[in-house]
Amino acid sequence: MKPRDRLRIAMQKSGRLTEPGLDLLKRCGLTFRQSRDKLFCFGEGEPVDLLLVRDDDIPGLIAQGVCDLGIVGRNVLAEFQLTAGRETAALSELRPLGFGRCRLSIAVPQELDYQSPQQLSGLSIATSYPGLLGEWLRTQGVEAGVVTLAGSVEIAPRLGTADAICDLVQSGGTLVANQLREADVLLESEAVLAGPEILPADERGDMLELLLKRLDGVIQVRE
Ligand code: PRP
Ligand code: ZN
Ligand code: MG
Repeated sequence: MKPRDRLRIAMQKSGRLTEPGLDLLKRCGLTFRQSRDKLFCFGEGEPVDLLLVRDDDIPGLIAQGVCDLGIVGRNVLAEFQLTAGRETAALSELRPLGFGRCRLSIAVPQELDYQSPQQLSGLSIATSYPGLLGEWLRTQGVEAGVVTLAGSVEIAPRLGTADAICDLVQSGGTLVANQLREADVLLESEAVLAGPEILPADERGDMLELLLKRLDGVIQVRE
């Protein structure tokens, strides 16, 4: 791969983290030339460019060195850390960003009287987070089936393909609409700045340090 002298940040193309993410970068003094539907946005003032992608692809892009940083949900980063192969570069959460707060939770049909995780024994649970769910089930000493779905997880109980789900909950609206209710929380999530465990030691590293400093300033002002 060609060495890059500009920093590249991956971000969700369209979704809940897009607007607040762009807003945060703007307040860090970063402006971008291209339109957002071009998926690659060239940074004007500073040598920092944006790549707009699917959120689930962000950790992999950083691990491969295609991007230096990513703005992504802690849930997506943690799932990658649990499921990526040993040969994959290690990633870390550089900063929590304070927006996009939500929970990764177990949800069960409204009529089920949930008291403890042990009740999930022998049931099947649909999720897009098999790594995080599997780890939680092990910690709880519960043996349950895990059905991995890329999306529309909430519909699985009604279709009869799973008894419960494990998915993100923000307002709770999706659960209510699907006659489910939140039963247990696995992870408190929010948008984070993700990066490689070993930061680049060239100009990109200097820019990254500057960006982190500005970020800390912006986050402090907001709190
Ligand atoms: C998430 C999650 C639920 C929904 C919950 O999906 O998978 O479907 O939000 O939010 P609520 O509690 O406010 O209803 P989202 O559409 O954000 O992203 P996804 O396409 O990656 O699943
Ligand atoms: Zn997603
Ligand atoms: Mg969803």
